[in-house]
Amino acid sequence: MRRQLDEPRLRAGASGDQRGRGVTFGVDAASPLASVGGAALVQASAGNFLVSRTGQDVFAALTAVCTHEACTVSGFQNSTYVCPCHGSRYSTSGSVVQGPATAPLRAFTARFSNNVLTIS
Ligand code: FES
Repeated sequence: MRRQLDEPRLRAGASGDQRGRGVTFGVDAASPLASVGGAALVQASAGNFLVSRTGQDVFAALTAVCTHEACTVSGFQNSTYVCPCHGSRYSTSGSVVQGPATAPLRAFTARFSNNVLTIS
């Protein structure tokens, strides 16, 4: 069963900015990212990102823009991201698991400290 990714609330006043600090948001107990294996679609003014928690303090952040025809990748099934438009699948590290996409999702740096995740 495919499910839509949950969207964690962005920390107030701290969405993506244009000054190079990246996107910052809190990960609280109610967040889909609160436990290892969780994933979320983070929608910020700087763009949409796919974020997964791969370890206690380790996160992976990718662009949510599908490399096939630029739909927003919004599904998550069996630990892979699923594009709703033509079914491309990507691993949580961004590599193509199933086409039609042929190029990986661009990865960003994700830093986690004091329950705040920063994507840059
Ligand atoms: S736009 Fe994502 S599979 Fe075509």
